[in-house]
Amino acid sequence: MRVAVLTSGGDSAGMNAAVRAVVKQAIVRGCEAYVVREGYEGLIRGNIEAEGSSDSGAQTPPQVTRDSQGVEANLRFGYGPLLRDWEGDSTDDPTGKNLKGRYIVKVGWDDVRGWMGEGGTIIGTARCAGFRTIEGRMTAAHNLIKEGINALVVCGGDGSLTGADKLRGEWPELVAKLHQNGTITEEQANASKHLVIVGLVGSIDNDMAMTDLTIGAPTALHRICESMDNISTTASSHSRAFVIEVMGRYCGWLALMAGVCGGADFVFIPECPPEAESWEDQMCEVIKRHREVGKRKTMVIVAEGALDKNLKPIKPDYVKDILRNRLQLDTRVTTLGHTQRGGRPCAYDRILPTLQGVEAVNALLESTPETPSYMIGINENKISRIPLVEAVKQTQAIAQAINDKDFESAVKLRDPDFKE
Ligand code: F6P
Repeated sequence: MRVAVLTSGGDSAGMNAAVRAVVKQAIVRGCEAYVVREGYEGLIRGNIEAEGSSDSGAQTPPQVTRDSQGVEANLRFGYGPLLRDWEGDSTDDPTGKNLKGRYIVKVGWDDVRGWMGEGGTIIGTARCAGFRTIEGRMTAAHNLIKEGINALVVCGGDGSLTGADKLRGEWPELVAKLHQNGTITEEQANASKHLVIVGLVGSIDNDMAMTDLTIGAPTALHRICESMDNISTTASSHSRAFVIEVMGRYCGWLALMAGVCGGADFVFIPECPPEAESWEDQMCEVIKRHREVGKRKTMVIVAEGALDKNLKPIKPDYVKDILRNRLQLDTRVTTLGHTQRGGRPCAYDRILPTLQGVEAVNALLESTPETPSYMIGINENKISRIPLVEAVKQTQAIAQAINDKDFESAVKLRDPDFKE
């Protein structure tokens, strides 16, 4: 089996550990491993074929020997530095292999050495509009077929995983079309009958249903906690209030957990919106009480997707004005922004993607045309396989419930065991 792995959508700490685990497990299980750079964009761009060669991935060194770990020498390609700095030209290429114009790259054991603790995603990511079109997916299918790839691991959010499942569903039709119009040979069409895919959820938002945690969410929470600790000291010194906006898109997990970790006075999250007419009073009452018992600092967390019950967005600047005008608190707004996505993964964002990456390859190897595409999750501390379509459907149902002002269902869908 030829297994390719890509990262897609917003980056998250732990994606490199996921790629590393997929590559290593693929090799251990006797597969050939590939990485796709720049997410789906790279799948569409494919490889510019070398002149006079029909095989753009011709990289096999001559002799096959085994090292002490039993890894074949010809699986050690040494692209590591290039994968980190792929814009560089061939002059700084220690292996003599130029990666320019190549987005689907066969990789070996050494290529992912040292990736575990690196932040972001070394192979690059993109939010790719082209892959949403049938033409884009057709080109992507052609590029995969050219490389003989028949298994794909996608690490990204719900949109990215839906795209992967769509490609898998359309695959036989795409192969037939490419064959009919002469783009691929009969031999290629016969060799590419099925594509199996598995999803890993890489997102700081922790917004995917049917799994407890997404890759990158724990690190983002650490970043927020560190920032809150920093803000906390200066807030105390000046006896100030801070309104802190955190990411999470339509999901309040980061905000809620940050509120717990950082000892916030008030938290706004999309799943549990406050009364439109009275939240200002309620917030001021709580904060006033805290001040009266001697608290010198005030911290209010606003999830970026926070709403009131009428679905009106709750904006940090507005919260600041309320605190200033009603409680006369010297108030500042801090938007943590992309600091939450950056930096090295915490320990759990190394463990989780490693376990899940291994499971992803195992799931691919056990997949048949009849089995559903799986998303690898974690439930009650056990790595799990969840039908991807179901998880995505439930995630979208949460957003819909919020949109329909059915907040109770949104909370229940997010956490079936939730009790007030
Ligand atoms: O989905 C991850 C996320 O970081 C969200 O929390 C945030 O809304 C969004 O991506 C930011 O996207 P971008 O990096 O494209 O500005």
